[in-house]
Amino acid sequence: MSDTHVAILAAGKGTRMKSAQPKVLHPAAGLPLIEHVLRTAERLNPASVTVIVGHLADAVKVGLAKRMGLTFALQEPQLGTGHALLQVEPHLRGASGTLVLLSGDVPLLRPDTLRALVDRHQKSRAAATVLTARVPQPRGYGRIVRDDNAAIAAIVEEKDATDDQRRIDEINSGIYAFDLAPLFDALKNVRSSNAQNEYYLPDLVRIYRARGDRVETLILDDAREVLGVNSRKELAEVTAIMNRNRIDELMASGVTIIDPATTWIGPDVVIGSETVLHPGVYLEGRTRIGQSCVINSGVRIVDSTLDDEAVVNNFCVICESHIARGARVGPFAHIRPQSEVGEDARIGNFVELKKTTIGKGSKASHLSYLGDASIGEHVNIGAGTITCNYDGSAKHPTVIEDGAFIGSDSQLVAPVRVGKDAYVAAGSSIVEDVPAGALGIARGRQINKPGWVAEKKRKR
Ligand code: UD1
Ligand code: CA
Repeated sequence: MSDTHVAILAAGKGTRMKSAQPKVLHPAAGLPLIEHVLRTAERLNPASVTVIVGHLADAVKVGLAKRMGLTFALQEPQLGTGHALLQVEPHLRGASGTLVLLSGDVPLLRPDTLRALVDRHQKSRAAATVLTARVPQPRGYGRIVRDDNAAIAAIVEEKDATDDQRRIDEINSGIYAFDLAPLFDALKNVRSSNAQNEYYLPDLVRIYRARGDRVETLILDDAREVLGVNSRKELAEVTAIMNRNRIDELMASGVTIIDPATTWIGPDVVIGSETVLHPGVYLEGRTRIGQSCVINSGVRIVDSTLDDEAVVNNFCVICESHIARGARVGPFAHIRPQSEVGEDARIGNFVELKKTTIGKGSKASHLSYLGDASIGEHVNIGAGTITCNYDGSAKHPTVIEDGAFIGSDSQLVAPVRVGKDAYVAAGSSIVEDVPAGALGIARGRQINKPGWVAEKKRKR
């Protein structure tokens, strides 16, 4: 177990989000903001992770309920970042080593950067190490004031800064590493006599320097890593950067992405090489896509697996399903949860599958609803076929065995079974099993009345 502990600030109001939901639970690329931060923190193998909650504390805890091993420190009321960190003290009593402080709303920080911050901090034996960045527009951030030796002397908040200080373009990222030994006693010296009447955590820098303790900085190469989310506009900006980073990785690994700006790929999505993504594709959750697949425009795939060489034509939605090698889906198909499309099978336009298995080489090319159905290999499902799986209170299964042929516009009233190689005549309402090799025909017999039209006219 390491002696590095992590604390994450998540108690603030997030006023500018204009949201009833806690800011840190707003999703970016499909995951709550704070989840991105927790994943980065995890890479340090920390001895403990404490989330400081306050505003909408219960909602934040509920949102993180699935995450094991977190400690929550309650900050009530919220009197500033210094006061927030002080709430961690009871949870770390007796602990020594390094405390890394992160913000729940700063989700782009890379694990390598965090590692570098901790290394710099531990090697220099500093009381505190501040992650800083030079930015073209420092407005709103705390500024890094350096002394004649270029050492950090203080951090001054925008609202307390002189005009000269406002011109400093090196900013405080709000991410720090602290030596735990002096930390909490020093924090008790922070005062709230400033423009916002808050207990500023960055005041620690001045306090440490005044008593001759060492304070270090690590200057970031890419300031975008410490972009914070304070508004929905910034949420969109951060999400776009996250998405673009993932897309760049995928392109580098051999995936063709025709239009990165309109392609949205979640952080947990995996894609094989030679696969082509057309514009306007959304890949979400735990989706895995094999090699040499083609995903056409307007497709959304959630928590699904596509094997190599699968093709999804335009405007399909695929959820919690499996599309096997070489299968083709769409355009305009809806593949609902727990469906399996077999190797080289074909699901055409306006076909909906729900909890349905389609065997190898089978086809449902047009206008069908197939629900709770188990369909064998090399079956042909004619246009307009419908499984009547619901009787108003319960769902029932349809089984269609290998090689069967279902004529167009048939209804299969479940529970029902169509045997191997059997035929169902077009337009049938099948309510009883069709034995293997048989023809099932269930429709009104056609009567032709010769001369009927002329007869009708004569009567008029
Ligand atoms: C803070 C820093 C500033 C830095 C900037 C980087 C202070 C005083 N200033 O400013 O130097 O450049 O971050 O983004 O620290 N929070 C609490 N409890 C509180 C107040 C805040 O948990 O009582 C949390 C917020 O939810 C947020 C974080 O602390 O996650 C930062 O607070 P915020 O008010 O956004 O500080 P900034 O004004 O951005
Ligand atoms: Ca902020």
